[in-house]
Amino acid sequence: MTHAGPVPVIAIDGPAASGKGTVAARVAQALGFHLLDSGALYRLVALEAIRARVPLDDADALGRVARELDVRFEPGRVTLDGEDATAAIRDEAVSEAASRVAVHPAVRAGLIDRQRGFRRPPGLVADGRDMGTVVFPDAGTKVFVTATPEARAMRRQRQLAERGVRAAFAPLLDEIRARDSRDRERAVAPLLPAADAATLDTTELTIEQAAAFVLERYRRTQRART
Ligand code: DC
Repeated sequence: MTHAGPVPVIAIDGPAASGKGTVAARVAQALGFHLLDSGALYRLVALEAIRARVPLDDADALGRVARELDVRFEPGRVTLDGEDATAAIRDEAVSEAASRVAVHPAVRAGLIDRQRGFRRPPGLVADGRDMGTVVFPDAGTKVFVTATPEARAMRRQRQLAERGVRAAFAPLLDEIRARDSRDRERAVAPLLPAADAATLDTTELTIEQAAAFVLERYRRTQRART
């Protein structure tokens, strides 16, 4: 007997540098599911806006940028207007701009259908800030990943070091705190756990342990369904 129910979604939300992106990628790989890095979409809107000199407070123009974004996700890379943008969207200036463009309802609305389009069989792991609350409120598995700002700043420092970039700890911590308050305090789709999300504090966990927690939650919901 086959169950042609809705395509399963695992929603993984949380603040910057909480490890959710790495955990989401591990879980998607373990299950053979598609992966949506929704933060990359906000970063791409920011990059396009910077390149086209669209002011970061021009909501209408940014909404248009979001709706018309010419982006392609390929394994391990993303292109914008046909050009590789994988590294460019990780720049600090783009990270900062992404959190600014994300406050505009027109930008968020402009990306909704594109995000929902990632929901294809056999399933989707979606990572972001509002996957469980706004984009996929019917997701069967919702996990809100956290870690202390200090642990996140340390991870960020390590990631940058791996790319050969030396960064001081204090400014990274300040930047993480600033981004947290902007993401939490915005009027539309603020960073908040869904009422039915499990919270996972990864401060003391390895990536493997965090991924195992998400997989166990998913398997439990699957068992409950059969
Ligand atoms: O997850 P990230 O750091 O790549 O996200 C970049 C920015 O995009 C972040 O500051 C907040 C925003 N964002 C959002 O508002 N909603 C999402 N679902 C994902 C990211």
